[in-house]
Amino acid sequence: MITPVSYPYVIIVAVAAVLLWAITRKSERLRTRYFKLTSSAKVRRNGFKLKAAGKPDYFELTGVPPPKPLPNFNIDEALPRPYRPFRWKYHQTMSLLNMEPDWWIELESTYRERISQRKKLYAEHGTKIVDSLPQSEGACLELAEMVIQFLCARYPSQFHRDSSGTFHNNILGTSTNIQTVEPLIFLLENVPEDFLIVLEDEKSGLYHFRAGVSASAMGWNMSIKIGRPLHEIHGPVPFYQEKMRYSMDRYFTKMGVDKPIQRGSWGFEIGQPLYLQTDEPEWSHRNVQDPSLDINDIYLRVDWQTLRRLPKSRAIVFNFKALFTPVTHFREEPFIPRLIATVIRESERPLMEYKSSSHTEHKLLPALDEWAKEQEEKGWVPRDWKVRTLDENPFYPGWELHHKY
Ligand code: HEM
Repeated sequence: MITPVSYPYVIIVAVAAVLLWAITRKSERLRTRYFKLTSSAKVRRNGFKLKAAGKPDYFELTGVPPPKPLPNFNIDEALPRPYRPFRWKYHQTMSLLNMEPDWWIELESTYRERISQRKKLYAEHGTKIVDSLPQSEGACLELAEMVIQFLCARYPSQFHRDSSGTFHNNILGTSTNIQTVEPLIFLLENVPEDFLIVLEDEKSGLYHFRAGVSASAMGWNMSIKIGRPLHEIHGPVPFYQEKMRYSMDRYFTKMGVDKPIQRGSWGFEIGQPLYLQTDEPEWSHRNVQDPSLDINDIYLRVDWQTLRRLPKSRAIVFNFKALFTPVTHFREEPFIPRLIATVIRESERPLMEYKSSSHTEHKLLPALDEWAKEQEEKGWVPRDWKVRTLDENPFYPGWELHHKY
């Protein structure tokens, strides 16, 4: 019973309740503003809801136009574009190019094999391959939605989403209920690329690695890097601290949603190692020059990377695919043998040592020299050509003749 004596207590309790309600509303609003998700997007850690109706159109929202559809695309015949991102002189710089909207996600003939290899790696290594930290749920959800919109627009015969919100993958013959699947698992099972998601840290303003799918790491893995800011992630990268750190941080802070970029990272490998850790025997083989190594077993590995900001979560996504090309192909690629030989021989040593390609150089360099000479004799390359980055970078003259889309 409320007596006149207890009135002040009742008033205090009522005021406290109103205050608590207001604070809860406010923090809810702040959270919603942070992710800026649609009101229908309820995010949960395990299993989330992605409402089919009322989703934003990410092409419109970002200002990055939809890709040109490839209605007759045949995955079994699709060659990746021949990325040869070699620059001369080679300095450690960001070396960014504008992303071509048609090519955000490029599927090619290794699709099925890679998806199954990546799923196997996840089954073996768990959170070293797929992981996420709290507060990254909105970004993961948003990324999956953007990827779905891109795939359905670019490869309409291969992918579509029906009116119930189920995603159909006609290459693998799978259907996924997008309302219940984890977004990163959806990516792992449908896109053979790595996706690393960074978010701005509220305290430092720096971008930290918060979530990702990472099945093609060489010498590192997610458990070593997750949670860290960019300058720590890039710790082993030569000249990063002195030449790149501050321009990278500034770039990430300012990057707009309508300015996605692309770049390439490269190295030479024996065979096609996709994911390799420093405690595996194959890693130590990288210090040895095997005299019986066959040139046919040496591959160029290019990690073709794109970077873009997601408009609602404000996360930045770094995604890339590893593409392997037998080095013997260079024989038919004008200028490439001489350009690569120069880069390997004359670059600053720490850059080459970081790539740890010396286990291939004793066979690769003589072959490159021979092919370069042959190209001069055929008149493909002027004898007095002064080695420099090609105008066609990241490709080479005439590449389109063999790569029609
Ligand atoms: C404009 C953006 C970026 C640039 C210019 C850049 C640059 C580089 C460079 C130069 C390397 C050395 C390999 C190479 O020669 O390419 C590297 C390695 C690496 N980057 Fe980035 N990066 C960028 C964004 C990111 C982001 C967003 C992540 C997210 C986590 C990331 C994670 C890594 C990792 C894990 C390595 C391997 C480091 C190691 O060897 O331990 N990078 N990056």
